[in-house]
Amino acid sequence: MDKAREQQVLELVPTGAFVGGEWRAGASGATFEVEDPATQEPLISVADGTPADATAALDAACAVQEEWAATPPRERGEILRRAFALLNERADDLALLMTLEMGKPIAEAKAEVTYGAEFFRWFSEEAVRIDGRWSVNPAGAGRLLTMKQPVGPCLLITPWNFPIAMGTRKIGPAIAAGCTMVVKPAQQTPLSMLLLAELLSQAGLPDGVLNVVPTTKASDVTGPLFDDDRLRKVSFTGSTPVGRQLMELASKHVLRVSMELGGNAPYLVFGDADLDAAVDQAVIAKMRNIGESCVAANRFHVHESVADEFASRLAERLGRMKVGRGTEDGVEVGPLIDGKQRDKVAELVDDAVGKGAKVLTGGERVGDRGYFYAPTVLSGIADDADLLREEIFGPVAPVKSFSTDDEAVAAANDSEFGLVAYVFTNDLKRAIRVVEALDVGMVGLNRGLVSNPAAEFGGVKQSGFGREGGREGIEEYLATKYVAVDL
Ligand code: SIN
Repeated sequence: MDKAREQQVLELVPTGAFVGGEWRAGASGATFEVEDPATQEPLISVADGTPADATAALDAACAVQEEWAATPPRERGEILRRAFALLNERADDLALLMTLEMGKPIAEAKAEVTYGAEFFRWFSEEAVRIDGRWSVNPAGAGRLLTMKQPVGPCLLITPWNFPIAMGTRKIGPAIAAGCTMVVKPAQQTPLSMLLLAELLSQAGLPDGVLNVVPTTKASDVTGPLFDDDRLRKVSFTGSTPVGRQLMELASKHVLRVSMELGGNAPYLVFGDADLDAAVDQAVIAKMRNIGESCVAANRFHVHESVADEFASRLAERLGRMKVGRGTEDGVEVGPLIDGKQRDKVAELVDDAVGKGAKVLTGGERVGDRGYFYAPTVLSGIADDADLLREEIFGPVAPVKSFSTDDEAVAAANDSEFGLVAYVFTNDLKRAIRVVEALDVGMVGLNRGLVSNPAAEFGGVKQSGFGREGGREGIEEYLATKYVAVDL
């Protein structure tokens, strides 16, 4: 990729905090550098938000909440529809920016822009379907009216792994429902969110509805907002430990909370499965986003009759994937987000190998610049290997065999997480039995990808609660009011 083109895209990014429709240098004037994880070189500096910026952003959101809630749903929907079109028009710029700051290969970055834009289209259609109920009181006298209203100003905390789509998945329903918001993007990847804010403004979003405060000190921005009783809701995507802390903070003013937290997805392949499809889909379930996804397959439980063949075919596929900077032609595996994440992945592999696992491919860092780790397949995993319990968030596939369906389901459910599971079988009765027994919020049945703006995304157990996307996504931003009507 041409350096001049990279520079051109970086120059498109507004580098301030977006407050009340204006781009401002942060209150302290401080800035921070955003790093390219493929080269470890700085890309550009942006405003480092402070408590004063956070409060100014909430002030701006609160100032327009009433007017925004009263804006006709059709108008809110049309703004989202224009934003959908703009994101698609500007897909090349957004994708390159995302690749530069996050590392994912450019083709995946483009796929994320499409995925992210679809949340705007979906919620543009949902904005006009907010409804309620009218019923006769069971006792006969009087009527019961149920209406839905926007919850009010929201804090949206977005992660670094899908900088656009995890933003649009929260911003879209908040706009559709009539809520105003303050967004705190991840420190590693603020650039895509800043450009997204600019595009929303171009799409006609009124000033103050969306405010964005980048920062290196998350608690400086989120702390004052949790302390402020004008804030009504927090939506967070990130790790379970951080989610727990935020829930504690949210308890102070009993905030509405949506939590999309960690995962540890089991990928079950039964003896009757179509093995070609199971391997093809495993590549997607494991390698999408360099494995840095909460829905990435974390552990492969494969029936003993096909486990060796599955593992060697998966190793052959992952072993030939091209690793490199996401901007380069043909690259399929970019760097991990930072040194901490790369070291964690290496430690999990070393732990498994130390406990007897065999490396079929990979198992090492790549290069001396950038946070690269080779696509890795391990077999012969000990029951106490840490990567069976922890979220790997990297390109590592541990394969473990099972002999009975009960054993497979028990292994799949042996986790504090319950986000998603993948099941490969051609036996309909087995499929239904297993799907019903799995303790998760989502299942990919003979598919390695479940993400879809028209479907409810979310987990159970310590993967969190609340749903994003689908029919339920907008409900997270609506409060129910019941009216007892005396006739
Ligand atoms: C995530 O990893 O947080 C979400 C991935 C997705 O929406 O597909």
